[in-house]
Amino acid sequence: MTLKVLSVASEAAPLVKTGGLADVVGALPAALAAQRVEVTTLIPGYPSVLAKLGKTKAVHKWDALPGGPARLLAGKLGEARLLVLDAPALFAREGGPYADASGRDWDDNWRRFAAVARAAADIAGGAVKGRSFDLVHAHDWQAGLVPAYLRLAPLAGGRSVPSVITIHNMAFQGYFPGEIFPALGLPPSAWTVDGVESYGGVGFLKAGMQLADAITTVSPTYAGEIRSVEFGMGLEGLVLARSSRVHGILNGIDTKEWNPATDPHLAACFTAGKLAARAKNKRAIEAEFGLERDDGPLFIVVSRLTWQKGMDVFAEVLDHLVGIGGRLALLGSGDAEIEQRFHAAAARHPGRIGVRIGYDEALSHRLQGGGDAILIPSRFEPCGLTQLYGLAYGCVPVVSRTGGLADTVIDANPAALAAGVATGFQINAVNAGALAMGVSRTVALYHQTAAWKRLQTNGMKADFSWGASGAAYAALYRQLIEEQE
Ligand code: ADP
Ligand code: GLC
Repeated sequence: MTLKVLSVASEAAPLVKTGGLADVVGALPAALAAQRVEVTTLIPGYPSVLAKLGKTKAVHKWDALPGGPARLLAGKLGEARLLVLDAPALFAREGGPYADASGRDWDDNWRRFAAVARAAADIAGGAVKGRSFDLVHAHDWQAGLVPAYLRLAPLAGGRSVPSVITIHNMAFQGYFPGEIFPALGLPPSAWTVDGVESYGGVGFLKAGMQLADAITTVSPTYAGEIRSVEFGMGLEGLVLARSSRVHGILNGIDTKEWNPATDPHLAACFTAGKLAARAKNKRAIEAEFGLERDDGPLFIVVSRLTWQKGMDVFAEVLDHLVGIGGRLALLGSGDAEIEQRFHAAAARHPGRIGVRIGYDEALSHRLQGGGDAILIPSRFEPCGLTQLYGLAYGCVPVVSRTGGLADTVIDANPAALAAGVATGFQINAVNAGALAMGVSRTVALYHQTAAWKRLQTNGMKADFSWGASGAAYAALYRQLIEEQE
């Protein structure tokens, strides 16, 4: 039997993206179609989404969602089925999905995403004629209230369906003051520690984790890490209490979007058997970033420039990286102070370090296609996608040993090199000494041409497609539906 799943999120590539969440939400429908699961994705009607979507049909109307009236639009983008919550009072604004143009979070984010969650629960409950769903899959705190509405609030359509919540990042919990509770339209009984209350406020992610039928996160190692105080960030008790319901399912990558043999963004396409063609892409990066040409490795970074990503520590080892013959091309944006440190390093090392502050999807492909090694020294990383893109593109990942990075990169230690299975480098700790050592190991192996080529081809031949993970999600959905019957 084909299952119908409503996937609810605040981002979905290619319509709206600030990070890996969008990649995953955008890729799930195709991943699950192969498992006889038909996914429809519900996202907010940001102006950019409405503009890109083109033709849509209004299929439902609400007079009083949190924040006022709203319409539900149905549309398609390629094969993807979409539902868009068109609530102008909440979403028709310039800026990003969560913050205004200056980076300040919208004051009413709780209301914006409560409205999406309420709408999702209504839709799953059968409020929209002709559309029924067997299960709801909520992503991150923005969809965290979906399981709460499903379980605790009367549904417009009267049906109840099971739900799954996926934690893409425990650091963002959607925690708001208790005063907002009455405006959520939940019954007073929801205001308990078994409901949406969290440390005296309302916790959107917490509510989802408490009330969903299953909790997933995006790698097996992160699923273990969030049981600890360090990674659980206040919710480790809840993770432990529900541990039989917690699953780690590794993200895959969209192998159509990220395929070096066909990538239209690259100056030269290539395969594992034709690595020499990468040289042209490397020359293009050197030209674009104003870097000198030489025989040393070209490191790249494509990242949010934040504490999570360890970019403050990485900024401390740039002089070392240049000192041992490395060069760096960095694309990213984030904390102003970290951005400033990279600008300063580029000024100190003209021709050796090039920095682009901003967000540029096409450039991110070009960097993976021509860089020699991608640096990802994250303090925590639920899964991480840029190391997977690096592996697929022969851009060797140099990563910290945490979360999904630990699960996907095989360190080039002597045993792995001897066995011919290494795909990159793992760093033991996120401090300047450990990072400098990781960079040194990378430069040293880069000069051993045959061993380096083996690293590249091992990564390119590894399978990070959605096959196994799509099957794992489908099996989980089916199990939860059976349990409910
Ligand atoms: P996170 O979601 O924590 O930022 P991931 O590695 O899962 O980390 O996903 C990041 C996604 O965003 C990848 O698709 C990456 O290529 C992309 N990305 C990050 N920064 C930039 C940028 N400055 N320009 C273009 N793409 C970026
Ligand atoms: C989050 C995490 C990242 C993960 C992505 C997609 O943004 O920080 O590690 O890959 O979600 O699941």
